[in-house]
Amino acid sequence: MYGKEIKKILVSKEAIAKRVAEMGEQISNDYANQKITLVCTLRGACVFFADLMRAIHGDVEIDFIAVSSYGADTKTSGEVKMVKDLSEPIKGKNVIVVEDIIDTGVTLSYLKKLLLAREPKSLKICTLLDKPSRRKVTFEGDYVGFEIENEYVVGYGLDFDQQMRHYPDVCVLSPEVYEG
Ligand code: IMP
Repeated sequence: MYGKEIKKILVSKEAIAKRVAEMGEQISNDYANQKITLVCTLRGACVFFADLMRAIHGDVEIDFIAVSSYGADTKTSGEVKMVKDLSEPIKGKNVIVVEDIIDTGVTLSYLKKLLLAREPKSLKICTLLDKPSRRKVTFEGDYVGFEIENEYVVGYGLDFDQQMRHYPDVCVLSPEVYEG
């Protein structure tokens, strides 16, 4: 179903659905009888977020935040800027930040520090994908869907230059796409 921009499917939509259901179950158990505020990091986590929140039972509120560290290429700029802040205060709340991927760790380190300063009751990080070999700063997710190798992936919310987010599977981008 994909063109030559895709090298291969890395995580199929079926495997994603199975893992998201497990993660939802785990979060539901960990927060039994407690309210959760799920924070979606725009834009990459939007597809994962929509699936994950429906896999959680219990009281869930949602909010959105956007920070950016990437330009129109596959290498991090190392700079993070706030693009859109949360709509509600998080003081005293159980917050779970939902991210698409932890790569260098720069974005989430920044975000975690920023959100902790607002004194939530608890703060956890949930990511669909994790590329531990790419870290520039020490950072660990609390809930991790899949650990992957150092390959640039697109689909299920993840983009290359704002394209391919709508692909249903997590796919490896063909190197020719970004090598020109
Ligand atoms: P970090 O600050 O390097 O951890 O970058 C995190 C952000 O970079 C993610 O939220 C993604 O938006 C983007 N990113 C990192 N690796 C990939 C990838 O393989 N595909 C698409 N986006 C990526």
